[in-house]
Amino acid sequence: MSKRTPLIAGNWKMNKTATEGVELVKAISAAVGIDPNVNVVLCPPFTALSAVGAAIEGSHLALGAQNLHDKTNGAFTGEISASMLRDLHVTHVIIGHSERRSIFGEDDAFVNRKVHAALGATLRPILCVGELLAEREANQTMEVVRRQVEKGLEGVPAAKADHVIIAYEPVWAIGTGKTATPAMAQEVHAFIRKLLAQQFGAESAARILILYGGSMKPDNADALLAEQDIDGGLIGGASLEAKSFVELVRSASKSVAG
Ligand code: 13P
Repeated sequence: MSKRTPLIAGNWKMNKTATEGVELVKAISAAVGIDPNVNVVLCPPFTALSAVGAAIEGSHLALGAQNLHDKTNGAFTGEISASMLRDLHVTHVIIGHSERRSIFGEDDAFVNRKVHAALGATLRPILCVGELLAEREANQTMEVVRRQVEKGLEGVPAAKADHVIIAYEPVWAIGTGKTATPAMAQEVHAFIRKLLAQQFGAESAARILILYGGSMKPDNADALLAEQDIDGGLIGGASLEAKSFVELVRSASKSVAG
């Protein structure tokens, strides 16, 4: 089985103006250059997509959004459609982040419609799944992850499997400085790959990227990325500064090169 090219994605959340974002990506682009061993996606807020997209044109960096609406257009005040994102040269979109689920009440059915909207517009969904602390403590991690993966990908045909990216983000590890140990994360990643194999077949499942998210930092990235089923990271806090983000990109590159 060929090793998957790892992906490091920066989720800036509600941080960075367009001006600040341009400054950040220029620094990242200059430091990362062109590296065939790793792919990099930056997910600024909607308001910075256009400027950041222009700043990374011709570079090795790709553009992602943090959310989208499932409808193509219409009376949905404050929402953004897949075609609007495509028009800005966005290629990836985070869907079902735990902050969207918990703060904005997004359920699995809505998340699933968004996945279909993204795939229909040839955007690559980064589907986020992960358990709450109480769920882990109640030994419900696998059950929760199974539900989120199966419902999130319901109706996605095997022909589209290669466009799908999963991010396992244990909610208790997000922004808390608590990371899942590599072994804990690997266990869930392997389980997710098994679920993907059930839906898409083993060969497709072996090609799908499964990212880890939740306090991934330069000092814990090497150990996480060394695990067989951890194919990169979805980075929050450490994506907001060029130095730490670039270190993570280098860790991912090293994980395949070395
Ligand atoms: P942190 O890296 O800040 O824990 O955030 C992870 C995350 O939610 C990425 O989507």
